[in-house]
Order: sequence, then structure tokens, then C-alpha cells
Amino acid sequence: MSSRDEQLAKIKDEVITLKESPLCKERIKNGVFPVIGEGSHDAKIMFVGEAPGRNEAATGRPFCGAAGKILDELLKSAGIKRQDVYITNIVKDRPPMNRDPLPEEIEIYGPFLDRQIAIIQPKVIATLGRFSMEYIMRKFGLDSRLDTISRIHGRIFEAEAEHGKITIIPLFHPASAIYDPAKKGVMTKDFLVLKTIK
Ligand code: URA
Repeated sequence: MSSRDEQLAKIKDEVITLKESPLCKERIKNGVFPVIGEGSHDAKIMFVGEAPGRNEAATGRPFCGAAGKILDELLKSAGIKRQDVYITNIVKDRPPMNRDPLPEEIEIYGPFLDRQIAIIQPKVIATLGRFSMEYIMRKFGLDSRLDTISRIHGRIFEAEAEHGKITIIPLFHPASAIYDPAKKGVMTKDFLVLKTIK
């Protein structure tokens, strides 16, 4: 096991035994799983979604339901293999009824995401949806560049991470295409930006 694998396995153990979040109690009560993340531990591109949905909590895998199917299509259209990237969420346990994550939940789970970023050291973080856009842009000192996702989706923001330069690209959440299929074209175009990054 590489040191990255070990450090990521430690995060998994810590989330499994986490006591602070009411979402963990729900998870244990319902016999479902936390979703830590999946993909290459040496990924250049990291995708950060919001929180697991029903399918993800049932399997412990990120983006494996309807939104995941759209994410897979978008990755394919950009010529990116799912196994080459790392996919995770800010919140690692499913909020009941798929409600938006609460600020206190983001506060509890955010440090796990911070550690995943520090371990994997991606060159690019593509945020999926407004919650991860806000979290990641603030984390990397891009507060003044924040705007609504409809204004800044697909744009490239450069920042400094502890491990070096990092590019942040806010993307619409794949589930947006379920509610508004007309958005799929724009989303496909936004994903092409990922191809231009070396
Ligand atoms: N939506 C998310 O934000 N993350 C998932 O893993 C699945 C759906």
C-alpha cells in the first residue's frame, strides 16, 4: 500500500467511526454506508460533489445513481476515464430526503475533504454544484471571484494549494440535467474545458 492509500484508508476509518454528525446516526440506523470517494489516488483531476444520494449510501460509491449516469456521459464526451480521476463529495453521509447539506454538516465533513485534497494533490478540482463551488473557492482564497453558478460555470480559476498551483473549475451539478435536460449541451461544453488542462 502506498502512503496515499494508507492515508486515505485512515480517513475512511475515521468517517466510519465518526460520532459528531447526526447524519452518521441516520446512516447506522438505516444500515447504509458513508461515501468516502473513489478513483485514482494519483488523479490529476478531482471532482467534488455535494453529498451522497440514496444509491450512493446504499453502495458506498459516489455518483452511482441517476446523476452518476450523467456524470459518466459527460466524462466520456470529454474523453476522460472515470478510473483516472478521483470523485468525492463534501458531505460523506446522506442527508435525509436528499435535502441540501446544512452549514454545520459542511463544517463537520469539510476537513475530511481538505485532507483528501492534501493527500491526492490534484492539479484540477472540478466542483459539481454550488455547495462544492462555494466551499472550494473559499478554501483557495477565491471568495472575491465567487458568483452564482450560472455566471461562472465552466470558467477557469487559478489558485495556490499547499502542494502547488491548482485550477478550480465550477461545473453544474450533473443532476441539473435531470431537472432541465436542455442544460446538457452547456454541461457537455463545460466538461471540454477539462481537456485543455495539461
Ligand atoms: N449527488 C452528489 O452530489 N454526490 C453523489 O455522490 C451523488 C449525487
